[in-house]
Amino acid sequence: MAFNPEKFIDEAISEIKKQVGGGKAIVAMSGGVDSTVTAVLMGRALGKNCAAIFVDTGYMRKNEPERIKEIAAKSQLNLRFIDAHEEFYSALKGIVEPEQKRKIIGEKFIRIFEKAAKEEKAAFLGQGTLAPDWIESGSGLRATIKSHHNVGGLPKEMNLTLVEPVRELYKDEVRKVGKALGLPELIYNRQPFPGPGLAVRIMGEATREKAGIVREACAIAEEEIERAAKEGKMLMPWQYFAVLLPIKTVGVLGDARAYGYTVAVRAVESFDGMTAKACPIPPEVLEKISNRITRELKEHVNRVVYDITSKPPGTIEWE
Ligand code: XMP
Repeated sequence: MAFNPEKFIDEAISEIKKQVGGGKAIVAMSGGVDSTVTAVLMGRALGKNCAAIFVDTGYMRKNEPERIKEIAAKSQLNLRFIDAHEEFYSALKGIVEPEQKRKIIGEKFIRIFEKAAKEEKAAFLGQGTLAPDWIESGSGLRATIKSHHNVGGLPKEMNLTLVEPVRELYKDEVRKVGKALGLPELIYNRQPFPGPGLAVRIMGEATREKAGIVREACAIAEEEIERAAKEGKMLMPWQYFAVLLPIKTVGVLGDARAYGYTVAVRAVESFDGMTAKACPIPPEVLEKISNRITRELKEHVNRVVYDITSKPPGTIEWE
């Protein structure tokens, strides 16, 4: 049977009301389609008994905090903005192993949400977990591919009851719900972004400096790919971004020897994120991305490579 977003919305709202009762809830809002849909559903179900919490981890996309404030205002969400840069950078100091990074980030998020919940007197935490998040995080007979921060990354002891209205949905379905909720296309058609943010696009230690580099590189890749798609030079990929590698290579900067980092550009076609195929980017677009990254980040990056791996055997993100 075809998915009916309007029916889903009615059922989700009454489910949330039933679960939370007369209690209070907070909802984690990152600005992506999943968490925004969750926040709007919870806002509709609970009104002023729900506060949307945005945690600025220091690993957000360029201009994201400003964008979130705008979205929340337009959707009449009661938004609380928490600046947690320092906390996240210091928790990830010296951490290079991807699963450990994800677990630390998941735990930090939960501790911050627990504190916010206490202040808001809320006993429930809403989050935009989708079906692929818990499927890939492993349960029962399934193997853990990677711990999505909002599933396998959750600490064992948690004092909040989860509200996950979209946990049975896939990406294409949550987009339909977003559209039916009246969200702007900019949100419901937005490309996915991993919960742990740019931290999983920095291979190795996710320092503040590297977060700044990958943030710029991602913004350049996004801008150029979106421009090329708008100009009809390529199809709009399902997801597209840049990854910062810990490998330094030799290059030339002016007349001098340079020794800088490598950035990988990735664009994929997918339906639900469970499988993916590298998306062809025309050579002139790749060249423009490479030129801009090596020029605008010349102090740090002197080489750009293009990832052509499918999922499987790769995953979409590199960590
Ligand atoms: P992978 O890298 O596993 O990613 O092929 C599949 C899709 O999920 C996104 N992703 C995440 N989403 N929390 C999320 O909400 C996470 O921890 C997470 N990790 C990966 C990824 O960007 C891709 O769209």
